[in-house]
Amino acid sequence: MRVIVIGAGYVGLVAGCCLANSGHRVTGVESDPAKLARLVSGSAPIKEKDIDRLLSDGLASGQLIFSDTLPQPLATDVVMVAVGTPSLTDGATDLSYIQQALAEVSAVVSEPLVLIMKSSVPPGTGRRLAQRYFADKPVTYVANPEFLREGQAVNDWYQTNRIVIGTEDSTPVAAIRELYADIAAPVITTDITSAETIKYAANAFLATKISFVNEIANLCEAVGADIDYVVEGLGLDPRIGKDFLRAGLGYGGSCFPKDTRALNLSALNNGYDFRLLKSTIEVNTKQPIVAVHKLDDMLGGLEGKEIAILGLAFKPETDDVRESPALAIARLLYERDARLRACDPVAIDNARPLLPAGVRLSTDIYEATQGASAVVLVTEWPEFINADWARLREGMADPYIILDGRNALAPERLSGLGFHYSGIGRRPA
Ligand code: UGA
Repeated sequence: MRVIVIGAGYVGLVAGCCLANSGHRVTGVESDPAKLARLVSGSAPIKEKDIDRLLSDGLASGQLIFSDTLPQPLATDVVMVAVGTPSLTDGATDLSYIQQALAEVSAVVSEPLVLIMKSSVPPGTGRRLAQRYFADKPVTYVANPEFLREGQAVNDWYQTNRIVIGTEDSTPVAAIRELYADIAAPVITTDITSAETIKYAANAFLATKISFVNEIANLCEAVGADIDYVVEGLGLDPRIGKDFLRAGLGYGGSCFPKDTRALNLSALNNGYDFRLLKSTIEVNTKQPIVAVHKLDDMLGGLEGKEIAILGLAFKPETDDVRESPALAIARLLYERDARLRACDPVAIDNARPLLPAGVRLSTDIYEATQGASAVVLVTEWPEFINADWARLREGMADPYIILDGRNALAPERLSGLGFHYSGIGRRPA
């Protein structure tokens, strides 16, 4: 099929590369000149497993091309919109990039096409957008949310556990099935607003699971239980499931924080007070604060203390630092006059402009921890977990504190090496 993908961020680039790899003829539209130049030269502007290979294969075969504007005439079967929907300051969704993309399509469309909305828009938005931009155009609007995890997005594209098609008119369903013909997954066909709600409900539920387990971890500390055993016992119940029960410093990234805020606001705007979701957000905001208080207690004050933050990306295998708990931790420690260093294998350039002044940055864990009296593990990068902690301790200073914000390290081994170890909800070794 002929597909135009508007936007070459995480979602648009993965979609474009995967669709081209599946044999569709794809034109990616990217308005940022620097990003476009990289794409055309075959270098992906994001760190994502397998994307460089798919990008160069697509360019080499001619199945994938890029442009800075919509082709005219459009001459396509599908337009897929995958532009950003960032948060506004009040938590609402900034729809301006979407509106711009839809206005451009609306201005030039003449032949029938299916418009697939991949960007996340709050429930109820798509119906209004379809009415506003395409009421008198040969365009069928389809809400078709994505469930891609950063770092595993290519795999998730092909191994998705569902394809959601939200439309007010069943004619595009065959076209969408053809588009995803090589993906074996159950298809749910519903209306636009229900499809949008599935996306936000999925992220809100996963975020709630994380906040729930973080509350249980905090409770474990209060009552003297151990979160590792509690989670094992919980997860063995298949109705609960073991996934997304890793306690820590809370969720970050470009999706959960933004989508939970947007759904909360959307509920309020529609007259519903979503109390559970508000608590999920509140718990997540507080989790880094809880950790900093703990570090304060362990160090006997933070002022002037040399502290190394291990990890800046919001999770391993990505260089994305958007809403990373590391940024919140750094700001909180900086406000308390701690002296900070931070280490990340790939995310330093993205984090630098978002960190407080004076944070010393390094990609080398031994350099970053040299002379530090405490380390906070924020991102569970394998290179941190598998570091030579005996060597690390030699370089560190008294009182050799480790606050493991992801419960990813081995407490007994580290205590044996002479560290004062604490996790999140783990019983002291
Ligand atoms: C998330 C969802 O998992 C995807 O299904 C969804 O498509 C995507 O958002 C989106 O809306 O586009 P992603 O943001 O890439 O994907 O990251 P996750 O792997 O879900 O992790 C999110 C955050 O939760 C990370 O900060 C991670 O450290 C944290 N997390 C995750 C926990 O603290 N505990 C857990 O048990 C799991």
